[in-house]
Amino acid sequence: MDIKSKINLEKLPRHIAVIMDGNGRWAKEQGMARVFGHRNGVKAVRETTEACTELGVQYLTLYAFSTENWNRPEAEVNALMALLVETIKNEIKTLNENGVRLRAIGDLNRLPDKSHKTLLKAIDDTKQNARMTLVLALNYSAKWEIVEAVRKLAAAAKSGEIEPSDIDEQAFSNALSTAGIPDPELLIRTSGESRISNFLLWQIAYSELYFTPVLWPDFRREHLYQAIVDFQNRERRFGKTSEQL
Ligand code: IPE
Ligand code: IPE
Ligand code: MG
Repeated sequence: MDIKSKINLEKLPRHIAVIMDGNGRWAKEQGMARVFGHRNGVKAVRETTEACTELGVQYLTLYAFSTENWNRPEAEVNALMALLVETIKNEIKTLNENGVRLRAIGDLNRLPDKSHKTLLKAIDDTKQNARMTLVLALNYSAKWEIVEAVRKLAAAAKSGEIEPSDIDEQAFSNALSTAGIPDPELLIRTSGESRISNFLLWQIAYSELYFTPVLWPDFRREHLYQAIVDFQNRERRFGKTSEQL
């Protein structure tokens, strides 16, 4: 039986988040520069997006560039930003054909002007699509996002728009850049690292974590299916006992 047919389509995660890691090591294994790994990671992005769309996953969030990634060598950062612009431009048509809406989370104002403009245009050009939402985390840091939400709520309280007692979990979620998006049920990280690296800290409070040694440029639909099957075999108890479920 192939792995795809083991997926229970009635119990799909609504939202899958992915920390796409291992491009640099993949390139190094082939004796190539790190940027070669990033370029080859685009195929994995395409496959993962298509597979999620076909299955009926409603939201896919991809961690593409963290705020900490600015600390990389300038040439790598520039290459990543150029790749972002190029990929988004190339993919708009396919996104529209497949009914995929693009969104972005992160401090987008700090992206280079060209990357920012291309991104906003792609978001606008795909806003009519309703089959799946692809969320790109760009210049994203969960701590930054949480601090921003606190600032927003504090300002609203100061101006009398809300009372401090109005701030509950729902209000806080609504102040995050992921407002309106359900929390991911499944978080995948490739490349064998077992850490979160400042990604979606609030939203993954109860996510199932799946770590795979596969390097991102090697990640294919079958790896995604495997992660979903693994997720579906877990018992999500949310604090209850097994007998209560
Ligand atoms: C993930 O791959 C891509 C980004 C973080 C932009 P890496 O570039 O982190 O690859 P490794 O971890 O060095 O192998
Ligand atoms: C996390 O990967 C960020 C992205 C995948 C965009 P990193 O490779 O930057 O994470 P660390 O530095 O190993 O924690
Ligand atoms: Mg890495």
